Amino acid sequence: MTVFVTGGAGFIGSNFIFYMLDKYPDSRIVCLDKLTYAGNLTTLAPVMKNPNFRFVKVDICRRDAVFQLFREEQPDVVVNFAAESHVDRSIESPEVFLQTNVLGTQVLMDACREYGIRRYHQVSTDEVYGDLPLDRPDLFFTEQTPIHTSSPYSASKAAADLLVQAYHRTYGLPATISRCSNNYGPYHFPEKLIPLMIVNALNDKPLPVYGQGLNVRDWLYVEDHCKAIDLILEKGREGEVYNIGGHNEMRNIDIVRLICRKLGKPESLITYVTDRKGHDMRYAIDPAKIHRELGWLPETKFADGIDKTIAWYLENRRWWQTILSGEYQDYYRRMYGNR
Ligand code: NAD
Ligand code: TYD
Repeated sequence: MTVFVTGGAGFIGSNFIFYMLDKYPDSRIVCLDKLTYAGNLTTLAPVMKNPNFRFVKVDICRRDAVFQLFREEQPDVVVNFAAESHVDRSIESPEVFLQTNVLGTQVLMDACREYGIRRYHQVSTDEVYGDLPLDRPDLFFTEQTPIHTSSPYSASKAAADLLVQAYHRTYGLPATISRCSNNYGPYHFPEKLIPLMIVNALNDKPLPVYGQGLNVRDWLYVEDHCKAIDLILEKGREGEVYNIGGHNEMRNIDIVRLICRKLGKPESLITYVTDRKGHDMRYAIDPAKIHRELGWLPETKFADGIDKTIAWYLENRRWWQTILSGEYQDYYRRMYGNR
């Protein structure tokens, strides 16, 4: 079996590649990645010499190059992780989000139609459902919750989801979609909440909390997300959407305080900064469908997952220090300089 993994040099895609090569040593994995600021080849160093792995630097929007790869490799399965993924960047410049997240998805699905495929899987997000109010803890996102997006990022992911459903219905593309809550774990780019707070705390730098830090996210260890996608590929029904989440809701401020405690850093590093525009209040997934139909349950408790994650950042300083020394500095000044 040949599996195309797009965006595999990023956070979740790389964890998925490691998981798949470990679980299915005889399968062939081809990673297609443009290596944007978020893609990192050193992340894939442990598998680069594996004869069942191939890395190809390619933009999924480049139709000719993508079609050429499909001709060469004849993939059985495509899992599309490739995306611009950061809400704050989407507020700054939405255009590339529409290009990659929507038009790139279209190119991949067109190639699947042209060359035939057993399964196309779209890795989507709970952010397509918009947000829930803080005073209604009884409400959760189900697969029936209407799409109601807040940021250019979530709008682009929702547009892609609708296109996947349209390709399934119109052309019979054998597609599935998963909508996962916030992931955390190794190789998470330090522009997102958890890794940013870890690396800033380690550098004794201010910890910028948006607004009052009361927004709630539903955190899932990245490996549990990978396992869920694997199950959907194996047993998921074509044309279906599966929500993925582990009922682990936490307020941002509580996460940041926890990181301070774990690293022995003072809470005086916490700095409240101007809120994100259109900031979603609460995300909370109801994972009943994937549990009932596919038997998926999260395996890593947050208490263990956050310890493993912090340990990883302590043991892999070079990985994030290299990121911090590059383009990241301009980004950080733009995003947090006058906030
Ligand atoms: P990431 O930003 O860490 O990685 C994205 C990867 O895609 C990078 O390697 C980048 O180089 C690559 N890429 C970007 N544009 C490309 C293009 N045009 N062609 C080829 N490659 C391109 O993102 P992530 O956090 O690993 O997220 C992966 C997917 O999971 C995304 O689709 C995201 O929407 C979704 N998702 C993420 C989360 C989360 O918490 N991080 C939660 C739910 C869903
Ligand atoms: P993020 O990791 O960007 O994920 P998303 O917005 O896609 O859920 O942010 C998680 C939460 O943390 C979100 O409510 C915004 C907040 N946040 C901060 O308070 N400070 C920061 O520096 C960042 C990056 C995020």
